[in-house]
Amino acid sequence: MPTDIEKVARKAEKRGIPSIARHVFFCGNSSCCKDKDEAKAAAKKLGKAAKHSRDEEGGFEFTPVECLSLCIHGPLAVVYPEGVWYAHVDEAAAEKIIEHHLKGGQIVEELVFARSGANPTTGEKE
Ligand code: FES
Repeated sequence: MPTDIEKVARKAEKRGIPSIARHVFFCGNSSCCKDKDEAKAAAKKLGKAAKHSRDEEGGFEFTPVECLSLCIHGPLAVVYPEGVWYAHVDEAAAEKIIEHHLKGGQIVEELVFARSGANPTTGEKE
């Protein structure tokens, strides 16, 4: 009989989790966003792109969150493993982040306001 860990591992395998290269967390809540429709459009674009990317090696996961604890200049997004935080992630910005960072590995510097986490290769804080 499979353990709970084995069961969730199988589910993760089916969703393509082991092949994803990046994970984006997105907050489009009204506490940090002036334009709720723009936030919804950005979330939709990120979610759709993530779904399509899972068929390929190096795809990405998208997770909408309730709050990233900053609540200003949203929509906000943070992408791991790089630990890059983006502000003003409207639909056009989401498109740039998808094409350049999530698919291409190139950070969209003009939208970055903070960096966190450790270097994914060395495990050291940069
Ligand atoms: S509501 Fe978006 S960061 Fe808090």
